[in-house]
This record gives sequence, structure tokens and C-alpha cells, in this order.
Amino acid sequence: MKDTFYITTPIYYVNDVPHIGHAYTTIACDVLARWHRMKGKRVYFLTGTDEHGEKVQKSATQKGLSPRQLADQVVTNFQGLSPALTISNTGFIRTTEPRHYASVQDLFRRSLANGDIYLGEYEGWYCVPDEAYWTERQLADAGGNCPTCGRPVEKRKEPSYFFRLSRYQDRLLRYYGENPGFIRPEERRNEVVAFVAGGLNDLSVSRTSLSWGIPVPDAPGHVIYVWYDALTNYITGLGYPQRTPEFTTFWPADIHMVGKDILRFHAVYWPAFLMSAGVAPPLGVFAHGWWTVEGQKMSKSLGNVVDPYDMVQRYGADAFRYFLLREVSFGLDGDFSERELVRRANSELADKLGNLLNRSLGMLGRYFGGAVPSPGAQETPDAALRDSGREAADAVDAAMEEVAFHKALSAVIELVTKANEYVQATEPWALAKDPANRGRLGTVLYNALEAARLSALLMSPFTPTASQRMWEALVPGGAPVEGARVDAAGAWGGLAAGAALPKSCIVFPKIET
Ligand code: MSP
Repeated sequence: MKDTFYITTPIYYVNDVPHIGHAYTTIACDVLARWHRMKGKRVYFLTGTDEHGEKVQKSATQKGLSPRQLADQVVTNFQGLSPALTISNTGFIRTTEPRHYASVQDLFRRSLANGDIYLGEYEGWYCVPDEAYWTERQLADAGGNCPTCGRPVEKRKEPSYFFRLSRYQDRLLRYYGENPGFIRPEERRNEVVAFVAGGLNDLSVSRTSLSWGIPVPDAPGHVIYVWYDALTNYITGLGYPQRTPEFTTFWPADIHMVGKDILRFHAVYWPAFLMSAGVAPPLGVFAHGWWTVEGQKMSKSLGNVVDPYDMVQRYGADAFRYFLLREVSFGLDGDFSERELVRRANSELADKLGNLLNRSLGMLGRYFGGAVPSPGAQETPDAALRDSGREAADAVDAAMEEVAFHKALSAVIELVTKANEYVQATEPWALAKDPANRGRLGTVLYNALEAARLSALLMSPFTPTASQRMWEALVPGGAPVEGARVDAAGAWGGLAAGAALPKSCIVFPKIET
């Protein structure tokens, strides 16, 4: 098994503040990063901001700022997501950093040198006031005028560098064929393969209509196309063009996590740029779905943009993280609703997981003064619960390989449900009435607490703060849960007999509505 894991988020445009879509991708990456650490791998987890290009330049002009001033302001909102959402990223990259200029220009030069990037002419329909090119298709949908401002457009030509994407059709198709897991989910893979099989045009990779970008080497007036610049962040973050220990250890990336709207850039253009420059293409790209909000598209004009900081303040990072990954099959679109978030947090986290822990600790306190008893002889329900624990651990492992967060979470909730049923069925409160049952009572409480311990561990990539608190309660004086190895700590029977546990621990208080 490969013992390293490199995962990336897209880098976010600094023309606007973070919303639920950004939080979603970043949280998904964080869960995978945490899980792979628990599997004993060395993990690199990169996120950052995309600061060049027309979008940022325009938005800065509207605000009366220079693009750099805007970037410097907005970047703090993205950096602040890590502490707010308990994100464990190892790196943060801004495309305006000097190290990134060096990296992009190096990659570009390699393709210039081998003829894959050549100077040509870009011709298209241009809206002068908006300074934007439009395709025939976009114009057709807007009655022949500029789709944003409705004014007439004119045919324009500008010198542009092109990347010979057409040359990479066969190599890309071969790469997809040889690496069936490269693009996930499967349906998205089929779309990309069909797109590439349909033929590829060369791609314009520079602009003269814009100054806010990385200069094309030795070509005054040309700046590198923002997507060429942005994609390269994934290698800059590891030290490219230097062959740093990070670069040689972690490249190629295991997963570029992206939204479905930007899959083509990652699964077609990016591997082609890399192949051309003699750098290995990434091993995987996973495209997730989009969120609507209460059934509607999220937009500023509707005023329904979900602010992740606001969600964390209201419900806590754990509940927000849990909801986003529990609610929909990862890969599909989903609908965000605070009502549903509260319902799930209360019915699953508070009533099921929180309750299992707190009531078991309560009984341990009452009947054993808080000292964990040694389990005695196993009876049928005990063996069944232990088997459920093993099944849950295996199911989470398989689900995380598949990047199916919803499956992992339902496996944990199923274990918790079974553990609560076990407590109902074995009736420790009834056993406690007769001293002759003391051994049996100890076994039952041991098993209930052990199920809670295992659940806390398996939930920890999703709910790191609550899991840590559960861990402190169940493994007093132990190392933090985020350092635990799932193979060792995930084995049934890890709860230490004799340990002194608190008499209560409420990690998921009920959210009042
Ligand atoms: N800067 C580019 C990415 C460059 S990566 C080399 C970009 N930035 S973005 O800020 O516009 O979007 C970043 C991510 O947010 C994308 O993966 C996109 O899919 C995601 N989302 C934006 N709105 C979303 C929802 N409503 N729901 C889920 N994700 C969404 O694109």
C-alpha cells in the first residue's frame, strides 16, 4: 500500500467571500486527510486562493481597489476557514506569491521549448465595455448581444499563445483507459471521455487584454491565462520547480477534489499541461455535486448565500461538517436546509451518539463509581455488538476508499443504533438491582462504552472536536484521537479496564429551534 497521500482543494477566487460551496470541498478534503493519517499515511493537504485574472481584476475595480489590495483583504476570509471549520491543511497557497510565478513560468517554458505552446491569433466576439470574449453559443443564448450587459459585441483578434491540446487526445484517452479510477464518480468519467473522444481544439493560454496575471516569459504584454496559472498551484505548493522532498514524496497528487463545474479543467487540460512538460499527471480527480439552498440556486440577488462562519457560530463546526457529508451521496447534488441540519444533528448526533456515551457513563458512575470493569464471559448479544463494531470499522474503511462519506457515516450511525438497542435489551438498570448480576452488569457497560469509543474514533475525521472530547472521556490521559491509528485503536476491546471515567459527558447538546 502506498504510504503517502496528497489531497488538494481547488483554489478559491478572491473576488468574493467564502460560501457553503467552498466550505463543502474543503471539509470533504479534510475528512479524507484525517482518515488517511489515521491509516498511518504521511499526508499533505493543500488549499489556497486563486488571485489573478479578469474576475478578480473587475471586482477590485468595482470596489475601488487594486487587485492585490482586494486579494490581501479577501484572502483572510479563506485562511480563516481553517480554524473555523477545524481544517487540518498542511499548506496554503496564494497564486500571487513569488514561488508560484517561478513555478508557472517554468512549466510554461517547458511547453514553449518543445513546441506545445506556440504564438497564434485568438479570434472571438468581444464586448468592449465588459472586456470579455464570448463564444457563438453564449451569444446565441443572449440574442447575439453580450450575455452580461446586453450590448452589441464586435469581432476581435488578439495575438495569443496556444497550447496544442489537439496533440494530447490520444495520450489522454490512453491515460483514462489505463487508470479507470482517475476520474470519479463513474458517470463524470464517461462525460469527460466522450468530450475528449469528440476531438480537442488547441487552447488559448495567454491574454493581452488583461494585465493582472503572471507574465508570459519573454513576451511583454502577454499574461498567462488564469486557469493555466491556477492549476499549477498543485505543484507549486510542493515546491516545484525545485525537486524538494515534498515534491518527490507527494507528487503526483492522489486526489484533486473539485466541484463538477470545474472537472474538465482538472481532468483534461491539467494532465495535458503536465504531460507536455514531462511531469507526471495526477492520480485522481473527484468531482462532487452542487448545493442548492431550500430548493433554490444560491445567489447574491436572492440573498440566500450560506455563510460558513455563520453556520459554525450557530451550530458548531462538527454539526455543520456532519450534515454536509451525511445529507447527500457524495458526488450528487444536494439541497441545504437549516431545518434539516438541526433535525439530523439532534436526532443522530445528540440523541443517538451523544446519548449512548452519556447514559453509559452515567450508569458506570452510578454502579461502578466510574471505574471501567473487566468484561466477563461473552453472551450472544455481546458477540453481536462486537461483530457490529468490526463491520462498522470495515464499512467505514471501504467507504472512504470509495470517497462515499454518506456510507461511512451511515455505518457509524448504524453501530450507534445497535449499541443503544443493546443497552435497551440488556437492561443494565434491572441488572443493577441484584448483586448476583454484577459481573454481567460490568460486561454490558463495558461493551456499551466500547461501542461509544469505537464510534468516537470512526467519527473523528467528520466531527474532530466532539470526537476528541469523547476520546478524552473514554481514554483518559491518552494521546489525541487525531493521532490514533485506526488499525490499532479500531480493534474491539481497546477500552482499558480499570480506567476512571467521568460520570457524564455531553458532546452534542440539543440544538434549540
Ligand atoms: N478558482 C477556481 C478554481 C481553480 S482550481 C485550480 C474556482 N474557484 S471558485 O471559488 O469559483 O469555486 C471553487 C469551488 O467551489 C468549485 O469546486 C465549485 O464547484 C465550488 N462551488 C461553488 N458553488 C457551489 C455550490 N453551490 N455547491 C457546491 N460547490 C460549489 O472555480
